[in-house]
Amino acid sequence: MFEIEQRAIEEKIKRFCLEEGLPEPVLQWSWIPFSGHWGISTSFFALAAQEARQGGQVNIPERAQGIARAVADYLGRPAGFERVEAVKGYLNLYFSTPGYTQQVIDTVLEKGEDFGRGEPLNRRVMVEFSQPNTHKAFHVGHLRNVILGAAVANLLEFAGNEVIRANYIGDIGLHVIKWLWNYQKFHLGEEPGEDRIRWLGDIYAEAERRSEGSPEAEAEIRALFARWDRRDPQVVELWEKSRAWSLEGFDQVYRMLGVHFDRVYFESEVEEPGKKLVEELIARGIARDERPEGAVIVPLDEILGEKEKYRVLVVLRSDGTSLYATKDLPLAIKKFEEYNLDQSIYVIDVRQSLYLQQIFKTLELMGYDWAKNCYHLAYEIVNLPGNVTMKSRDGTVVLLEDLVREATSRALEIVRTKNPELSNEQQEMVAHAVALGAIKYSMLSRDNTKIVTFDWQSALDFNGQAAPYIQYAYVRANSILRKANQALPASQLPVYELSPVEIELVELISRFPKEVQRAAKEYRPLYLANLAYDLARVFNDFYNQCPVLQAEETVRAVRLRLVAAARQTIGNCLRLMGITAPNVM
Ligand code: ARG
Repeated sequence: MFEIEQRAIEEKIKRFCLEEGLPEPVLQWSWIPFSGHWGISTSFFALAAQEARQGGQVNIPERAQGIARAVADYLGRPAGFERVEAVKGYLNLYFSTPGYTQQVIDTVLEKGEDFGRGEPLNRRVMVEFSQPNTHKAFHVGHLRNVILGAAVANLLEFAGNEVIRANYIGDIGLHVIKWLWNYQKFHLGEEPGEDRIRWLGDIYAEAERRSEGSPEAEAEIRALFARWDRRDPQVVELWEKSRAWSLEGFDQVYRMLGVHFDRVYFESEVEEPGKKLVEELIARGIARDERPEGAVIVPLDEILGEKEKYRVLVVLRSDGTSLYATKDLPLAIKKFEEYNLDQSIYVIDVRQSLYLQQIFKTLELMGYDWAKNCYHLAYEIVNLPGNVTMKSRDGTVVLLEDLVREATSRALEIVRTKNPELSNEQQEMVAHAVALGAIKYSMLSRDNTKIVTFDWQSALDFNGQAAPYIQYAYVRANSILRKANQALPASQLPVYELSPVEIELVELISRFPKEVQRAAKEYRPLYLANLAYDLARVFNDFYNQCPVLQAEETVRAVRLRLVAAARQTIGNCLRLMGITAPNVM
Protein backbone atom coordinates (compact mmCIF):
# COMPACT_ATOMS: atom_id res chain seq x y z
CA MET A 1 0.00 0.00 0.00
CA PHE A 2 2.91 2.32 0.62
CA GLU A 3 5.12 1.39 -2.28
CA ILE A 4 5.14 4.92 -3.67
CA GLU A 5 6.45 6.51 -0.49
CA GLN A 6 8.92 3.70 -0.07
CA ARG A 7 10.22 4.00 -3.61
CA ALA A 8 10.66 7.76 -3.28
CA ILE A 9 12.76 7.24 -0.16
CA GLU A 10 14.83 4.57 -1.86
CA GLU A 11 15.57 6.92 -4.73
CA LYS A 12 16.78 9.57 -2.32
CA ILE A 13 18.96 7.12 -0.42
CA LYS A 14 20.53 5.95 -3.67
CA ARG A 15 21.21 9.53 -4.68
CA PHE A 16 22.82 10.13 -1.30
CA CYS A 17 25.12 7.11 -1.73
CA LEU A 18 26.08 8.25 -5.20
CA GLU A 19 26.93 11.73 -3.95
CA GLU A 20 28.94 10.29 -1.07
CA GLY A 21 30.83 7.82 -3.26
CA LEU A 22 29.27 4.84 -1.46
CA PRO A 23 28.42 1.56 -3.22
CA GLU A 24 24.85 1.29 -4.48
CA PRO A 25 22.78 -0.07 -1.57
CA VAL A 26 20.36 -2.98 -1.72
CA LEU A 27 17.64 -1.95 0.69
CA GLN A 28 15.49 -4.44 2.58
CA TRP A 29 12.45 -2.91 4.23
CA SER A 30 10.50 -4.23 7.13
CA TRP A 31 7.59 -2.93 9.12
CA ILE A 32 8.33 -1.57 12.57
CA PRO A 33 6.11 -3.42 15.05
CA PHE A 34 3.03 -1.28 15.54
CA SER A 35 2.91 0.65 18.79
CA GLY A 36 0.48 3.42 18.02
CA HIS A 37 2.62 4.61 15.10
CA TRP A 38 3.27 3.08 11.72
CA GLY A 39 6.72 2.91 10.32
CA ILE A 40 9.17 1.12 8.08
CA SER A 41 12.78 0.40 8.70
CA THR A 42 15.93 -0.55 6.85
CA SER A 43 19.50 -1.12 7.98
CA PHE A 44 22.93 -0.15 6.64
CA PHE A 45 25.01 -3.07 7.89
CA ALA A 46 25.25 -4.65 4.46
CA LEU A 47 26.37 -1.39 2.94
CA ALA A 48 28.95 -0.82 5.67
CA ALA A 49 30.27 -4.35 5.18
CA GLN A 50 30.51 -3.84 1.44
CA GLU A 51 32.42 -0.64 2.03
CA ALA A 52 34.74 -2.44 4.46
CA ARG A 53 35.49 -5.09 1.85
CA GLN A 54 36.53 -2.33 -0.49
CA GLY A 55 39.01 -1.18 2.14
CA GLY A 56 36.95 1.31 4.09
CA GLN A 57 36.36 1.64 7.80
CA VAL A 58 36.39 -1.63 9.75
CA ASN A 59 33.94 -1.17 12.63
CA ILE A 60 30.80 -2.14 10.80
CA PRO A 61 28.12 -1.38 13.43
CA GLU A 62 29.62 2.03 14.01
CA ARG A 63 29.87 2.76 10.31
CA ALA A 64 26.29 1.51 9.73
CA GLN A 65 25.04 3.93 12.35
CA GLY A 66 27.13 6.69 10.78
CA ILE A 67 25.48 6.11 7.41
CA ALA A 68 22.02 5.85 8.97
CA ARG A 69 22.52 9.18 10.73
CA ALA A 70 23.80 10.87 7.58
CA VAL A 71 20.90 9.50 5.53
CA ALA A 72 18.44 10.67 8.17
CA ASP A 73 19.89 14.18 8.00
CA TYR A 74 19.88 14.09 4.22
CA LEU A 75 16.21 13.01 4.06
CA GLY A 76 14.95 15.63 6.50
CA ARG A 77 11.23 14.99 6.85
CA PRO A 78 10.00 13.50 3.56
CA ALA A 79 6.41 13.85 2.36
CA GLY A 80 4.02 11.45 4.08
CA PHE A 81 6.28 10.91 7.09
CA GLU A 82 6.23 12.50 10.51
CA ARG A 83 9.53 11.31 11.97
CA VAL A 84 12.85 9.91 10.74
CA GLU A 85 15.42 8.48 13.14
CA ALA A 86 18.76 6.65 13.01
CA VAL A 87 19.13 3.99 15.69
CA LYS A 88 21.93 1.41 15.94
CA GLY A 89 22.52 1.21 12.23
CA TYR A 90 18.83 1.28 11.36
CA LEU A 91 16.90 4.00 9.63
CA ASN A 92 13.36 4.22 10.98
CA LEU A 93 10.74 6.19 9.11
CA TYR A 94 7.40 6.84 10.74
CA PHE A 95 4.41 7.63 8.56
CA SER A 96 2.26 10.59 9.34
CA THR A 97 -0.71 9.10 11.17
CA PRO A 98 -3.45 11.07 9.38
CA GLY A 99 -1.85 10.42 6.00
CA TYR A 100 -1.51 6.72 6.65
CA THR A 101 -5.08 6.51 7.90
CA GLN A 102 -6.40 8.24 4.84
CA GLN A 103 -4.45 6.00 2.52
CA VAL A 104 -5.59 2.78 4.19
CA ILE A 105 -9.23 3.81 4.12
CA ASP A 106 -9.03 4.99 0.52
CA THR A 107 -7.41 1.77 -0.60
CA VAL A 108 -10.07 -0.39 1.02
CA LEU A 109 -12.94 1.64 -0.39
CA GLU A 110 -11.44 1.79 -3.82
CA LYS A 111 -10.73 -1.94 -3.99
CA GLY A 112 -13.90 -3.10 -2.24
CA GLU A 113 -14.30 -6.86 -2.47
CA ASP A 114 -10.83 -7.05 -3.96
CA PHE A 115 -9.19 -5.38 -1.00
CA GLY A 116 -6.48 -7.81 0.12
CA ARG A 117 -6.38 -9.77 -3.12
CA GLY A 118 -2.84 -10.76 -4.04
CA GLU A 119 -1.18 -10.20 -7.40
CA PRO A 120 -1.57 -13.17 -9.77
CA LEU A 121 1.13 -15.70 -8.91
CA ASN A 122 0.86 -17.63 -12.13
CA ARG A 123 0.58 -20.77 -10.09
CA ARG A 124 -2.08 -23.46 -10.44
CA VAL A 125 -3.17 -25.38 -7.38
CA MET A 126 -5.71 -28.13 -6.95
CA VAL A 127 -7.42 -28.49 -3.60
CA GLU A 128 -9.11 -31.85 -3.16
CA PHE A 129 -11.60 -31.87 -0.34
CA SER A 130 -14.87 -33.31 0.95
CA GLN A 131 -14.48 -36.77 -0.71
CA PRO A 132 -17.64 -38.39 0.67
CA ASN A 133 -18.61 -41.97 -0.01
CA THR A 134 -21.86 -42.59 -1.83
CA HIS A 135 -24.44 -44.88 -0.27
CA LYS A 136 -23.46 -43.62 3.17
CA ALA A 137 -24.60 -40.79 5.36
CA PHE A 138 -23.04 -37.35 4.99
CA HIS A 139 -22.61 -36.60 8.64
CA VAL A 140 -21.02 -34.06 10.91
CA GLY A 141 -17.80 -36.04 10.92
CA HIS A 142 -17.34 -34.88 7.33
CA LEU A 143 -17.95 -31.28 8.13
CA ARG A 144 -14.57 -30.00 9.12
CA ASN A 145 -13.09 -31.30 5.91
CA VAL A 146 -15.56 -29.43 3.68
CA ILE A 147 -15.36 -26.23 5.66
CA LEU A 148 -11.58 -26.23 5.90
CA GLY A 149 -11.11 -27.29 2.28
CA ALA A 150 -13.46 -24.62 0.96
CA ALA A 151 -11.82 -21.91 3.07
CA VAL A 152 -8.30 -22.91 2.05
CA ALA A 153 -9.35 -22.93 -1.60
CA ASN A 154 -10.83 -19.43 -1.24
CA LEU A 155 -7.75 -18.22 0.52
CA LEU A 156 -5.29 -19.59 -2.01
CA GLU A 157 -7.33 -18.13 -4.83
CA PHE A 158 -7.56 -14.72 -3.17
CA ALA A 159 -3.83 -14.80 -2.44
CA GLY A 160 -3.19 -14.97 -6.19
CA ASN A 161 -3.22 -18.66 -7.14
CA GLU A 162 -5.37 -20.22 -9.78
CA VAL A 163 -7.39 -22.77 -7.82
CA ILE A 164 -9.17 -25.90 -8.97
CA ARG A 165 -11.61 -27.18 -6.40
CA ALA A 166 -11.75 -30.95 -6.69
CA ASN A 167 -13.89 -33.58 -5.07
CA TYR A 168 -13.14 -37.30 -5.08
CA ILE A 169 -16.19 -39.36 -4.43
CA GLY A 170 -16.04 -42.93 -3.14
CA ASP A 171 -18.68 -44.42 -5.37
CA ILE A 172 -17.38 -47.98 -5.41
CA GLY A 173 -15.92 -50.42 -2.92
CA LEU A 174 -17.11 -52.88 -0.34
CA HIS A 175 -19.42 -50.37 1.34
CA VAL A 176 -21.30 -49.80 -1.91
CA ILE A 177 -21.66 -53.51 -2.59
CA LYS A 178 -22.99 -54.05 0.94
CA TRP A 179 -25.58 -51.39 0.36
CA LEU A 180 -26.63 -52.94 -2.94
CA TRP A 181 -26.86 -56.33 -1.29
CA ASN A 182 -29.13 -55.09 1.47
CA TYR A 183 -31.27 -53.13 -0.95
CA GLN A 184 -31.75 -56.04 -3.32
CA LYS A 185 -32.67 -58.38 -0.53
CA PHE A 186 -34.86 -56.24 1.67
CA HIS A 187 -35.76 -52.97 -0.01
CA LEU A 188 -36.15 -53.73 -3.68
CA GLY A 189 -38.39 -51.20 -5.43
CA GLU A 190 -38.14 -48.60 -2.68
CA GLU A 191 -37.22 -45.05 -3.57
CA PRO A 192 -35.85 -42.25 -1.48
CA GLY A 193 -38.05 -39.34 -0.41
CA GLU A 194 -36.85 -35.80 0.26
CA ASP A 195 -34.44 -37.00 2.88
CA ARG A 196 -32.20 -39.03 0.59
CA ILE A 197 -29.08 -38.94 2.64
CA ARG A 198 -30.77 -40.28 5.73
CA TRP A 199 -32.53 -42.98 3.78
CA LEU A 200 -29.34 -44.12 2.08
CA GLY A 201 -27.42 -43.99 5.32
CA ASP A 202 -30.05 -46.06 7.11
CA ILE A 203 -29.92 -48.79 4.49
CA TYR A 204 -26.15 -48.81 4.77
CA ALA A 205 -26.18 -49.07 8.57
CA GLU A 206 -28.72 -51.85 8.29
CA ALA A 207 -26.49 -53.68 5.81
CA GLU A 208 -23.66 -53.52 8.31
CA ARG A 209 -25.86 -54.90 11.09
CA ARG A 210 -27.23 -57.69 8.92
CA SER A 211 -23.91 -58.83 7.51
CA GLU A 212 -21.79 -58.50 10.62
CA GLY A 213 -20.54 -61.91 11.66
CA SER A 214 -22.72 -63.74 9.17
CA PRO A 215 -20.62 -65.95 6.89
CA GLU A 216 -23.63 -66.47 4.65
CA ALA A 217 -24.14 -62.76 4.14
CA GLU A 218 -20.46 -62.27 3.55
CA ALA A 219 -20.45 -64.94 0.88
CA GLU A 220 -23.40 -63.28 -0.84
CA ILE A 221 -21.70 -59.92 -0.68
CA ARG A 222 -18.53 -61.34 -2.16
CA ALA A 223 -20.55 -62.94 -4.95
CA LEU A 224 -22.21 -59.61 -5.62
CA PHE A 225 -18.82 -57.88 -5.73
CA ALA A 226 -17.71 -60.43 -8.31
CA ARG A 227 -20.77 -59.62 -10.41
CA TRP A 228 -19.90 -55.95 -10.19
CA ASP A 229 -16.35 -56.74 -11.27
CA ARG A 230 -17.79 -58.49 -14.32
CA ARG A 231 -20.04 -55.47 -14.88
CA ASP A 232 -23.18 -57.57 -14.69
CA PRO A 233 -25.77 -55.22 -16.27
CA GLN A 234 -28.34 -55.71 -13.56
CA VAL A 235 -25.84 -54.80 -10.85
CA VAL A 236 -24.50 -51.88 -12.83
CA GLU A 237 -28.01 -50.52 -13.34
CA LEU A 238 -28.85 -50.62 -9.66
CA TRP A 239 -25.46 -49.13 -8.84
CA GLU A 240 -26.03 -46.26 -11.25
CA LYS A 241 -29.51 -45.54 -9.95
CA SER A 242 -28.61 -45.58 -6.28
CA ARG A 243 -25.38 -43.68 -6.90
CA ALA A 244 -27.38 -40.90 -8.53
CA TRP A 245 -29.62 -40.67 -5.46
CA SER A 246 -26.56 -40.26 -3.33
CA LEU A 247 -25.04 -37.61 -5.54
CA GLU A 248 -28.26 -35.61 -5.49
CA GLY A 249 -28.11 -35.75 -1.72
CA PHE A 250 -24.55 -34.42 -1.75
CA ASP A 251 -25.59 -31.61 -4.04
CA GLN A 252 -28.19 -30.56 -1.49
CA VAL A 253 -25.52 -30.50 1.18
CA TYR A 254 -23.10 -28.49 -0.93
CA ARG A 255 -25.80 -26.03 -1.87
CA MET A 256 -26.64 -25.55 1.78
CA LEU A 257 -22.99 -25.00 2.65
CA GLY A 258 -22.38 -22.73 -0.31
CA VAL A 259 -19.59 -24.94 -1.66
CA HIS A 260 -18.86 -25.79 -5.27
CA PHE A 261 -16.38 -27.94 -7.19
CA ASP A 262 -14.70 -27.47 -10.54
CA ARG A 263 -13.81 -31.11 -11.06
CA VAL A 264 -15.38 -34.16 -9.48
CA TYR A 265 -13.38 -37.37 -9.63
CA PHE A 266 -14.90 -40.75 -8.83
CA GLU A 267 -13.21 -43.80 -7.44
CA SER A 268 -14.98 -45.81 -10.11
CA GLU A 269 -13.14 -43.93 -12.88
CA VAL A 270 -9.69 -44.73 -11.55
CA GLU A 271 -10.22 -48.32 -10.47
CA GLU A 272 -9.42 -49.96 -13.80
CA PRO A 273 -6.49 -47.64 -14.59
CA GLY A 274 -5.26 -48.43 -11.08
CA LYS A 275 -5.23 -52.16 -11.66
CA LYS A 276 -3.27 -51.63 -14.87
CA LEU A 277 -0.85 -49.40 -13.04
CA VAL A 278 -0.24 -52.13 -10.47
CA GLU A 279 0.77 -54.47 -13.31
CA GLU A 280 3.20 -51.84 -14.49
CA LEU A 281 4.61 -51.44 -10.99
CA ILE A 282 5.20 -55.17 -10.76
CA ALA A 283 6.84 -55.25 -14.20
CA ARG A 284 9.13 -52.39 -13.25
CA GLY A 285 10.14 -54.07 -10.02
CA ILE A 286 8.69 -51.33 -7.85
CA ALA A 287 5.91 -53.55 -6.52
CA ARG A 288 6.21 -57.17 -5.44
CA ASP A 289 3.48 -59.64 -6.22
CA GLU A 290 3.05 -61.91 -3.22
CA ARG A 291 -0.17 -63.46 -4.40
CA PRO A 292 -1.81 -65.82 -3.76
CA GLU A 293 -0.47 -66.00 -0.18
CA GLY A 294 -0.10 -62.28 0.16
CA ALA A 295 -1.00 -59.05 -1.57
CA VAL A 296 0.79 -56.84 -4.08
CA ILE A 297 3.01 -54.50 -2.12
CA VAL A 298 5.48 -51.70 -2.60
CA PRO A 299 8.16 -52.38 0.05
CA LEU A 300 9.06 -48.73 0.47
CA ASP A 301 11.48 -48.99 3.38
CA GLU A 302 13.28 -51.84 1.70
CA ILE A 303 13.65 -49.91 -1.55
CA LEU A 304 14.68 -46.68 0.16
CA GLY A 305 16.92 -48.24 2.78
CA GLU A 306 14.79 -46.78 5.57
CA LYS A 307 13.55 -48.36 8.77
CA GLU A 308 9.95 -48.04 9.94
CA LYS A 309 9.59 -44.81 8.03
CA TYR A 310 7.45 -45.52 5.00
CA ARG A 311 6.87 -49.19 5.73
CA VAL A 312 4.98 -51.15 3.09
CA LEU A 313 2.22 -49.91 0.82
CA VAL A 314 -0.36 -52.49 -0.21
CA VAL A 315 -1.51 -51.69 -3.74
CA LEU A 316 -3.76 -54.67 -4.51
CA ARG A 317 -5.49 -57.27 -2.34
CA SER A 318 -4.58 -60.93 -2.72
CA ASP A 319 -7.96 -61.60 -4.35
CA GLY A 320 -7.18 -58.95 -6.95
CA THR A 321 -9.64 -56.35 -5.64
CA SER A 322 -8.62 -52.75 -5.34
CA LEU A 323 -7.83 -50.64 -2.29
CA TYR A 324 -7.49 -46.92 -1.74
CA ALA A 325 -3.88 -47.05 -2.92
CA THR A 326 -4.82 -48.81 -6.15
CA LYS A 327 -6.90 -45.78 -7.02
CA ASP A 328 -4.92 -42.96 -5.46
CA LEU A 329 -1.91 -43.53 -7.70
CA PRO A 330 -3.72 -43.10 -11.03
CA LEU A 331 -5.79 -40.29 -9.52
CA ALA A 332 -2.69 -38.27 -8.73
CA ILE A 333 -1.35 -38.81 -12.24
CA LYS A 334 -4.66 -37.83 -13.78
CA LYS A 335 -4.76 -34.61 -11.80
CA PHE A 336 -1.33 -33.50 -12.98
CA GLU A 337 -1.97 -34.58 -16.57
CA GLU A 338 -5.30 -32.82 -16.77
CA TYR A 339 -4.28 -29.57 -15.16
CA ASN A 340 -0.51 -29.30 -15.28
CA LEU A 341 -0.55 -28.42 -11.60
CA ASP A 342 2.07 -26.56 -9.64
CA GLN A 343 0.69 -28.03 -6.47
CA SER A 344 -1.81 -30.70 -5.49
CA ILE A 345 -3.31 -30.45 -2.03
CA TYR A 346 -5.16 -33.25 -0.29
CA VAL A 347 -7.41 -32.21 2.58
CA ILE A 348 -7.60 -35.45 4.53
CA ASP A 349 -7.66 -36.17 8.22
CA VAL A 350 -4.44 -36.59 10.12
CA ARG A 351 -4.78 -40.34 10.58
CA GLN A 352 -4.02 -40.78 6.87
CA SER A 353 -0.61 -39.12 7.11
CA LEU A 354 1.54 -42.21 6.70
CA TYR A 355 -0.67 -43.50 3.91
CA LEU A 356 -0.32 -40.29 1.92
CA GLN A 357 3.43 -40.14 2.42
CA GLN A 358 3.52 -43.65 1.01
CA ILE A 359 1.50 -42.62 -2.02
CA PHE A 360 3.68 -39.58 -2.67
CA LYS A 361 6.88 -41.62 -2.27
CA THR A 362 5.64 -44.32 -4.61
CA LEU A 363 4.87 -41.70 -7.26
CA GLU A 364 8.37 -40.36 -6.81
CA LEU A 365 9.80 -43.85 -7.29
CA MET A 366 7.79 -44.12 -10.49
CA GLY A 367 9.74 -41.12 -11.72
CA TYR A 368 7.16 -38.38 -11.39
CA ASP A 369 9.04 -35.20 -10.53
CA TRP A 370 5.87 -33.48 -9.53
CA ALA A 371 5.35 -35.93 -6.65
CA LYS A 372 7.16 -33.44 -4.42
CA ASN A 373 4.40 -30.95 -5.17
CA CYS A 374 1.78 -33.15 -3.54
CA TYR A 375 0.83 -31.92 -0.11
CA HIS A 376 -1.25 -33.52 2.60
CA LEU A 377 -3.20 -30.87 4.47
CA ALA A 378 -3.98 -32.75 7.65
CA TYR A 379 -6.65 -31.80 10.13
CA GLU A 380 -7.86 -33.20 13.43
CA ILE A 381 -11.28 -34.53 14.34
CA VAL A 382 -14.28 -32.75 15.83
CA ASN A 383 -15.80 -33.70 19.14
CA LEU A 384 -19.50 -33.10 19.38
CA PRO A 385 -21.57 -32.46 22.47
CA GLY A 386 -23.09 -35.47 24.18
CA ASN A 387 -20.46 -37.86 22.87
CA VAL A 388 -22.29 -38.44 19.64
CA THR A 389 -20.58 -41.09 17.59
CA MET A 390 -19.86 -40.31 14.03
CA LYS A 391 -19.52 -43.69 12.41
CA SER A 392 -21.81 -44.44 9.52
CA ARG A 393 -21.60 -48.11 10.51
CA ASP A 394 -23.76 -47.88 13.60
CA GLY A 395 -26.22 -45.47 12.03
CA THR A 396 -26.10 -43.36 15.19
CA VAL A 397 -24.65 -40.41 13.36
CA VAL A 398 -25.73 -36.84 13.54
CA LEU A 399 -26.45 -35.85 10.00
CA LEU A 400 -25.33 -32.52 8.78
CA GLU A 401 -28.93 -31.41 8.40
CA ASP A 402 -29.62 -32.33 12.01
CA LEU A 403 -26.82 -30.11 13.19
CA VAL A 404 -27.84 -27.22 10.95
CA ARG A 405 -31.49 -27.57 11.94
CA GLU A 406 -30.60 -27.51 15.62
CA ALA A 407 -28.27 -24.56 15.13
CA THR A 408 -30.90 -22.68 13.15
CA SER A 409 -33.60 -23.14 15.76
CA ARG A 410 -31.24 -22.02 18.52
CA ALA A 411 -30.15 -19.02 16.46
CA LEU A 412 -33.75 -18.15 15.65
CA GLU A 413 -34.58 -17.96 19.32
CA ILE A 414 -31.74 -15.53 19.93
CA VAL A 415 -32.51 -13.44 16.85
CA ARG A 416 -36.18 -13.14 17.87
CA THR A 417 -35.34 -11.75 21.27
CA LYS A 418 -32.62 -9.49 19.92
CA ASN A 419 -34.56 -8.04 17.07
CA PRO A 420 -38.31 -8.59 17.32
CA GLU A 421 -38.93 -5.94 14.65
CA LEU A 422 -37.64 -8.13 11.84
CA SER A 423 -40.22 -9.95 9.76
CA ASN A 424 -40.50 -13.69 10.21
CA GLU A 425 -38.90 -14.27 6.88
CA GLN A 426 -35.98 -11.99 7.72
CA GLN A 427 -35.54 -13.65 11.10
CA GLU A 428 -35.32 -17.03 9.46
CA MET A 429 -32.81 -15.86 6.90
CA VAL A 430 -30.66 -14.31 9.60
CA ALA A 431 -30.95 -17.41 11.78
CA HIS A 432 -29.78 -19.57 8.92
CA ALA A 433 -26.78 -17.33 8.24
CA VAL A 434 -25.94 -17.22 11.93
CA ALA A 435 -26.30 -20.99 12.32
CA LEU A 436 -24.08 -21.87 9.39
CA GLY A 437 -21.63 -19.13 10.32
CA ALA A 438 -21.44 -20.45 13.87
CA ILE A 439 -20.69 -23.97 12.72
CA LYS A 440 -18.10 -22.86 10.16
CA TYR A 441 -16.37 -20.42 12.44
CA SER A 442 -16.02 -22.92 15.25
CA MET A 443 -14.15 -25.23 12.88
CA LEU A 444 -11.98 -22.53 11.30
CA SER A 445 -10.96 -20.77 14.48
CA ARG A 446 -9.01 -23.79 15.71
CA ASP A 447 -5.65 -24.68 14.34
CA ASN A 448 -5.97 -27.45 11.75
CA THR A 449 -4.02 -29.92 13.83
CA LYS A 450 -5.97 -29.35 17.04
CA ILE A 451 -9.15 -31.20 17.91
CA VAL A 452 -12.30 -29.08 17.72
CA THR A 453 -14.66 -29.49 20.64
CA PHE A 454 -17.91 -28.16 19.38
CA ASP A 455 -20.36 -26.74 21.86
CA TRP A 456 -23.48 -24.70 21.32
CA GLN A 457 -22.74 -22.08 23.93
CA SER A 458 -19.50 -20.88 22.43
CA ALA A 459 -20.48 -21.43 18.79
CA LEU A 460 -23.54 -19.19 19.14
CA ASP A 461 -21.98 -16.63 21.44
CA PHE A 462 -22.99 -13.09 20.48
CA ASN A 463 -20.40 -11.65 22.87
CA GLY A 464 -17.34 -13.82 22.45
CA GLN A 465 -15.08 -15.16 19.73
CA ALA A 466 -17.75 -16.63 17.51
CA ALA A 467 -19.36 -15.94 14.16
CA PRO A 468 -22.50 -14.17 15.48
CA TYR A 469 -20.37 -11.60 17.27
CA ILE A 470 -18.48 -10.82 14.05
CA GLN A 471 -21.62 -10.81 11.95
CA TYR A 472 -23.17 -8.46 14.46
CA ALA A 473 -20.30 -6.00 14.15
CA TYR A 474 -20.78 -6.09 10.39
CA VAL A 475 -24.49 -5.37 10.81
CA ARG A 476 -23.75 -2.48 13.16
CA ALA A 477 -21.40 -0.91 10.65
CA ASN A 478 -24.04 -1.39 8.05
CA SER A 479 -26.72 0.28 10.10
CA ILE A 480 -24.56 3.34 10.79
CA LEU A 481 -24.04 3.76 7.07
CA ARG A 482 -27.72 3.27 6.40
CA LYS A 483 -28.70 5.81 9.02
CA ALA A 484 -26.23 8.33 7.61
CA ASN A 485 -28.55 8.31 4.63
CA GLN A 486 -26.05 9.87 2.27
CA ALA A 487 -23.47 8.85 -0.25
CA LEU A 488 -20.10 8.12 1.30
CA PRO A 489 -18.13 11.39 1.63
CA ALA A 490 -15.09 11.88 -0.59
CA SER A 491 -11.59 11.01 0.62
CA GLN A 492 -10.59 13.02 3.68
CA LEU A 493 -7.34 13.68 5.45
CA PRO A 494 -8.20 13.58 9.16
CA VAL A 495 -7.56 17.03 10.58
CA TYR A 496 -8.58 16.18 14.12
CA GLU A 497 -6.60 14.09 16.57
CA LEU A 498 -7.39 10.43 15.87
CA SER A 499 -8.26 8.47 18.97
CA PRO A 500 -6.25 5.35 19.89
CA VAL A 501 -9.18 3.10 19.03
CA GLU A 502 -9.47 4.60 15.55
CA ILE A 503 -5.77 4.07 15.01
CA GLU A 504 -6.05 0.48 16.20
CA LEU A 505 -8.94 -0.15 13.85
CA VAL A 506 -6.97 1.24 10.91
CA GLU A 507 -4.04 -0.95 11.92
CA LEU A 508 -6.19 -4.11 11.89
CA ILE A 509 -7.70 -3.19 8.55
CA SER A 510 -4.28 -2.59 7.02
CA ARG A 511 -3.10 -5.98 8.22
CA PHE A 512 -5.64 -7.88 6.15
CA PRO A 513 -3.63 -8.23 2.89
CA LYS A 514 -0.60 -9.53 4.80
CA GLU A 515 -2.72 -11.94 6.79
CA VAL A 516 -4.21 -13.30 3.58
CA GLN A 517 -0.72 -14.10 2.29
CA ARG A 518 0.41 -15.62 5.56
CA ALA A 519 -2.76 -17.69 5.95
CA ALA A 520 -2.48 -18.93 2.36
CA LYS A 521 1.18 -19.88 2.74
CA GLU A 522 0.48 -21.87 5.88
CA TYR A 523 -2.97 -23.12 4.84
CA ARG A 524 -4.37 -21.60 8.02
CA PRO A 525 -7.76 -19.90 7.78
CA LEU A 526 -7.30 -19.55 11.51
CA TYR A 527 -5.39 -16.31 10.95
CA LEU A 528 -8.39 -14.81 9.21
CA ALA A 529 -10.72 -16.11 11.88
CA ASN A 530 -8.62 -14.31 14.47
CA LEU A 531 -8.33 -11.11 12.46
CA ALA A 532 -12.08 -11.04 11.85
CA TYR A 533 -12.67 -11.33 15.56
CA ASP A 534 -10.14 -8.60 16.41
CA LEU A 535 -11.72 -6.33 13.83
CA ALA A 536 -15.16 -6.92 15.28
CA ARG A 537 -13.95 -6.34 18.82
CA VAL A 538 -12.12 -3.12 18.02
CA PHE A 539 -14.96 -1.95 15.82
CA ASN A 540 -17.31 -2.38 18.77
CA ASP A 541 -14.96 -0.36 20.98
CA PHE A 542 -14.86 2.33 18.33
CA TYR A 543 -18.65 2.22 18.10
CA ASN A 544 -18.95 2.73 21.83
CA GLN A 545 -16.29 5.43 22.13
CA CYS A 546 -16.48 7.51 18.97
CA PRO A 547 -19.65 9.25 17.85
CA VAL A 548 -20.05 9.06 14.09
CA LEU A 549 -23.41 10.44 13.03
CA GLN A 550 -23.42 13.07 15.80
CA ALA A 551 -19.85 14.20 15.19
CA GLU A 552 -19.08 17.53 13.54
CA GLU A 553 -18.76 17.55 9.77
CA THR A 554 -15.04 16.88 9.18
CA VAL A 555 -14.90 14.18 11.85
CA ARG A 556 -18.10 12.61 10.66
CA ALA A 557 -16.81 12.32 7.10
CA VAL A 558 -13.63 10.53 8.15
CA ARG A 559 -15.46 8.23 10.53
CA LEU A 560 -18.14 7.30 8.03
CA ARG A 561 -15.40 6.24 5.65
CA LEU A 562 -13.66 4.33 8.43
CA VAL A 563 -16.91 2.51 9.22
CA ALA A 564 -17.31 1.60 5.56
CA ALA A 565 -13.71 0.36 5.39
CA ALA A 566 -14.15 -1.74 8.53
CA ARG A 567 -17.36 -3.21 7.16
CA GLN A 568 -15.66 -4.08 3.89
CA THR A 569 -12.71 -5.74 5.61
CA ILE A 570 -14.86 -7.76 8.00
CA GLY A 571 -17.01 -8.74 5.02
CA ASN A 572 -13.97 -9.87 3.04
CA CYS A 573 -12.72 -11.98 5.95
CA LEU A 574 -16.11 -13.61 6.37
CA ARG A 575 -16.47 -14.26 2.67
CA LEU A 576 -13.15 -16.11 2.50
CA MET A 577 -14.26 -18.27 5.40
CA GLY A 578 -17.49 -19.02 3.57
CA ILE A 579 -19.58 -17.17 6.15
CA THR A 580 -22.50 -14.98 5.10
CA ALA A 581 -22.50 -11.41 6.34
CA PRO A 582 -26.14 -10.48 6.87
CA ASN A 583 -27.28 -6.89 6.34
CA VAL A 584 -29.57 -6.88 9.33
CA MET A 585 -29.67 -9.03 12.40
N1 ARG B 1 -13.50 -41.28 0.37
C1 ARG B 1 -12.45 -41.58 1.28
C2 ARG B 1 -13.02 -41.88 2.67
O1 ARG B 1 -14.14 -41.49 2.95
C3 ARG B 1 -11.45 -40.48 1.40
C4 ARG B 1 -10.66 -40.20 0.17
C5 ARG B 1 -9.58 -39.23 0.42
N2 ARG B 1 -8.91 -38.82 -0.77
C6 ARG B 1 -7.95 -39.50 -1.36
N3 ARG B 1 -7.40 -39.02 -2.43
N4 ARG B 1 -7.52 -40.64 -0.83
O2 ARG B 1 -12.37 -42.48 3.49
